[in-house]
Formats: sequence, structure tokens, C-alpha cells
Amino acid sequence: MPEHTYTRVGFFSGEKIPLEMHKARMVQRLYLRHVKERRQVLSAAGNNTFLLPNRDVYLDMLTDSGVNAMSEAQYAAMLMADDSYAGSETFYRLEKTVGEFFGTRHFLPAHQGRACENILATAFVTPGSWVVTNYHFTTTKAHITRLGGSVHEILKDEGLSAQSSDPFKGDCDLAKLADFAEGEGKGKIAFVRIEAGTNLIGGQPVSLANMREVSEYCRRKNLKLVFDASLLADNLYFVKTREASCAGRALADIVLEMASLMDIIYFSGRKLGCARGGGMAVSGREDYMKMRDLVPLFEGFLTYGGMSVREMEAMNVGIRETLDIDTISQTPIFVEALGEALLDKGVPVVTPLGGLGCHVDAMRFIPHVPQEQYPAGALAAAVYLTAGVRGMERGTLSEQRKPDGSESLSSMELVRLAVPKRVFTLSQIKFVADRLGWLYRHRDLIGGLEFEEEPKTLRFFLGRLRPSGPWQERLEEAFLKDMPSGL
Ligand code: F0G
Repeated sequence: MPEHTYTRVGFFSGEKIPLEMHKARMVQRLYLRHVKERRQVLSAAGNNTFLLPNRDVYLDMLTDSGVNAMSEAQYAAMLMADDSYAGSETFYRLEKTVGEFFGTRHFLPAHQGRACENILATAFVTPGSWVVTNYHFTTTKAHITRLGGSVHEILKDEGLSAQSSDPFKGDCDLAKLADFAEGEGKGKIAFVRIEAGTNLIGGQPVSLANMREVSEYCRRKNLKLVFDASLLADNLYFVKTREASCAGRALADIVLEMASLMDIIYFSGRKLGCARGGGMAVSGREDYMKMRDLVPLFEGFLTYGGMSVREMEAMNVGIRETLDIDTISQTPIFVEALGEALLDKGVPVVTPLGGLGCHVDAMRFIPHVPQEQYPAGALAAAVYLTAGVRGMERGTLSEQRKPDGSESLSSMELVRLAVPKRVFTLSQIKFVADRLGWLYRHRDLIGGLEFEEEPKTLRFFLGRLRPSGPWQERLEEAFLKDMPSGL
């Protein structure tokens, strides 16, 4: 095994540059459209970056989900898949890997992360019950509320401060947990959920120390603890590099300890394992049996759970590769490169820089756009117009309206520029920073958005919006003045 390089390699010049520990051997042709074309495309997509066709996107920074670059070992493994409905050898290989990785007894496959959430919620959430969590995720919350449950967040206060130097903003506040569990939530808690790499607050990690404390409390109070390990790779990198007690520990050992603190673990295999799929790992027989029979009902037979066997083979290898620090460092160090380049240009981003992607703070970027006009959605549209880059709104648009129809204003208004693993080069990252720097200088031109078509659930996926006023024309005009090529 070659030695790891992530902390030891430096540039003689002193420049801080993220260094790739891989090389590209297959590439995809990209196109950058003219700004006039981008404005038309944006309008046809209802100003929703989810609705942009990829052919019109230069850099797809919507998500890392299912779009991380896979390794040659993953592709090779896909050729060896055992295609059978029941008893596939591929399943047994994956089951063994998951069992060794988490130290758990049972593995239940599912077609992706939200499918695990559906099973978990169906098994444990009842009307009037609560799920207590460091922070919600969109699909998680949708499944819980669909079944009559509610979500209570116990994120520590610092977690919601966009500018911070706290290395573990995803941590739970133990006092908030105890207050709720012994007060309003008493006897009504379906489970407590810790989300690794806390997505919606900017890919912020949870410390191992905090996991220990929450677990200790839950065991004492007989509360079920669920771990969303979708973003475990980033979280693991940060625990290893930011939590002093973990610096000398093997990654495998850290994962085993985290998992031992939990009762049920689930993950999106589109993130963890860099493939497409998902699964649940559990040791307790009772929890396993409660969820097991739901897999054939919603997903597929127990030995594939809705996944293609090829993806299962890729996931099997990808999960093992999560234990290589030079592999899991790639997203965080590129997020850092992007974030620092943006900060240099004065662009407000969530700090500390986290995993998953760089999160631009729309509240500080365009404070003149009220939350009711979806500043993060408007900024995501402006970023596409300016750079051909597809980011994702993570703010009020991603919330669901309250039962009375009023807006549920999000605590943060972020545009996430995801950095899928090993996909983009440093020049592309610099291009993004350059264009966002330009946009920041012209931020006064950006206006809000209003709904044209609003779906009732998970509206951010398919909703269509229009700009409130002709601000996109003005932005296009300004862009052409500085970049006459329109590119
Ligand atoms: N949990 C977390 C923390 C996630 O980030 C996601 C997906 C899910 C669960 C659901 O998994 O997509 O496989 O059904 N996050 C994606 C994203 C969609 O873009 O951040 P899924």
C-alpha cells in the first residue's frame, strides 16, 4: 500500500493548491453556451436549475449524488456482477463489505437514500410522533411528515451561523435534546437521527465526540439512534483532520466506532460508495425484522432492493475506497480551493468550508431580495446566466409551505455549488470563482423570483418560476459589456 500523501505534499512555491491523486482516462465533452442562449434556456427551464438540460450546462454543480467519478476498480467490478433475482453473489459481496465497514450484522438494500427513509419512516413513524435530528434533510422530512410525524431540530446554535470557525457545526446540542426528550417529545420520539456531513447547513461535519454524547444519552433514555451516513466520506475526512483524538486513528477504526454508537445506519449509495443505490445496516434483530419485509414491498427482493447488480458491485468497491484518505480528501480540498478563491473576491460563502460543495450565502450576496422572493433560487438562476454553471437552491424554495399555505422561511438561503469527487479540474474551479466574482460586483442587478407553477410536495424539484421584473435582461447586458464574446 503506497503511503498517503494528503497532508505531506506541498508546493515549493508555497502556493496552496489541491493536488489530484488520480488521473483522468475518460472524459466527457462540455459546451459553454452564449449568454443570450443561456437566458433563453433558463427561462424555458422555469428558472429552476433542476429543469436545465445537461447539454446546456457547462459545469454541473447541482449535486454529487450519483455523479462522482468512479474508479477503474469500480468499473472493472461492474463486469463481474451476478445477475439474478434471488441469491445474487453480488449481493453477498456487498453485504459482507457493508458488514465489515460498519461492523453490523444485517444489510438491507434499497434503490437510493430516500427509499431507506421511506422504509425507516414507515416502520417507525406514527401520527403525532417526532423525529429529533441535528438538522433535517428534504427527503427525510417529507417522508416523516407524510406519515403524520414531525421533525424537531437540535443543531447547536453555531450550526446556523454562516460565518464561523467552528470545525463541527453539524453537532447536536445535548441540552436541546434533553429538553425536548423530557418535555414536549416525552414518550413520542420515533427516533433520533444524526446526519453526517450535515447537508442543508453547508456540508458541515459532526464530531465523533458529539456522536458519543448523543448515543450515550439515547441509550440511557432508551431512544433509537439512526445515522444518515450518506455524507460519511466527507465527515470522516473532517473528523480525521479536525478532531485531534482521531488524527492517529485508522479510518476503518473511526467508522467502526461511529457505527457502534448507532442502532440503525442508512445511506444513499449515490454519495457513499460513489455509485447509485442505497442501503441500511443494522445489528438489532427487532429493528431488522421491522424493516425487512418492507424491502420486497417497496424496493425489490432482499438480494437487490431495486438496485442493478452492476451498481451494487461498484458500490461494494466504492465503500472500501472510502477508507483511503487520498480518495476522500478530493472533495474537501477542492471545496476549499473554490471557497478560498470566492472569499478572496469578497463573495460570501459558508465557513468553515465543508464537504459536498461550496455554499454561497444568498442572504449576504443579495440582501435586497426578500426571502419571499427566494434569494437562493434567484442567485442560482443568476449563476447559470453568468457562468453556465448549474448550482442548487438550498433555502426557502426547498422548504414546504405550512399547512395554512404561508411560507416556511428557511434559516439559511444558500446556493450550493457541489464538487463531485474527481470530476472538475482546478481551471474549471477557477472559472467558477472568476464568474461569481463578476456576478458579485453586479449583485445589485439581481432581483427575485415568483412561482408560475408550484407543486405541493418537494416543490423545488419541479416548480417553475419567473423573474420579478426584467433583471435578467439587465444582467445579460452588463455581462456582454465585460465579456463581449458572450461566453
Ligand atoms: N440523506 C442525505 C444527507 C442526502 O444528502 C440525501 C441526498 C439523501 C439522504 C437522499 O438520498 O438522493 O439517494 O435518495 N442528497 C442529494 C443531494 C439529493 O443532492 O444532496 P437519495
